[in-house]
Amino acid sequence: MIEIKNLSHSFGENQVLKNVSLHVGDGEIMAVMGSSGGGKTTLLRCISGLIRQTSGDIVVDGINVQTDAEEARKRMGMVFQSAALFDYLTVGQNILFGVRRHLHLSAKEEAVLLTDTLSRVNLTGNEDLLPAELSGGMKKRVGMARAIALNPKVLLYDEPTTGLDPITTYQIDELVASLRKTLGATSVLVSHDITSVQRTADRVAFLHQGEIVFVGEPEAFLKADHPAIREVVEKSQAKTLAKLK
Ligand SMILES: Nc1ncnc2c1ncn2[C@@H]1O[C@H](COP(=O)(O)OP(=O)(O)OP(=O)(O)O)[C@@H](O)[C@H]1O
Ligand SMILES: [Mg+2]
Repeated sequence: MIEIKNLSHSFGENQVLKNVSLHVGDGEIMAVMGSSGGGKTTLLRCISGLIRQTSGDIVVDGINVQTDAEEARKRMGMVFQSAALFDYLTVGQNILFGVRRHLHLSAKEEAVLLTDTLSRVNLTGNEDLLPAELSGGMKKRVGMARAIALNPKVLLYDEPTTGLDPITTYQIDELVASLRKTLGATSVLVSHDITSVQRTADRVAFLHQGEIVFVGEPEAFLKADHPAIREVVEKSQAKTLAKLK
């Protein structure tokens, strides 16, 4: 479903992605982990066609993202790192924003789509609230609702659980898993939460200084011997132990 070949991207002199190749199968959840500033968000932005890579190829559902960005974007939903909601629009208007760009629905059809989308992210009845009236977890779910409203084949999540408490994190993880089931969507999940990744991902890719240094199953990731991976895994285990004490 997603085929990335020899992808490189630079911002001026700063080479952020170096020859990245990655294959994500139909319906798979691929987690992308790595240190802060390692290029995870940039990778998602390249896949989604929001930025144009310096070199290399990205093909999504058979469509070359670079040459046919508009067509490719219709198949993808992106959940941004900061929920990126419009503060002056209600939850409902935020969710329908992208829908209105791509489809011309009647008011009745829009209402049906909105009700259905809200129920899929457990936000039924919240369409008239403004972003300022939402909790952090609710904002993330509105961001997810906006991404899934058009039934995309591919979902790109940028740190959907960062800054959330463990219970809300668990609920978002469950939602990621259930969206894969109900939409059959292929997902790329950027995360630095090892527990979330173990719970939801089929495979993990680790980006270190712009290069992919590991791709494999979550179990194997925990045992991988790359020093940067050891550091992340050990830090996370120490945190878990500290919480238990
Ligand atoms: N629009 C931009 N213009 C210039 N440089 C950028 C831009 N976006 C990102 N960068 C640079 O690219 C590098 C990678 O940033 P990116 O946001 O992809 O990292 P990340 O892995 O998502 O980090 P984090 O875990 O903190 O979210 C950083 O050095 C950053 O300064
Ligand atoms: Mg990021």
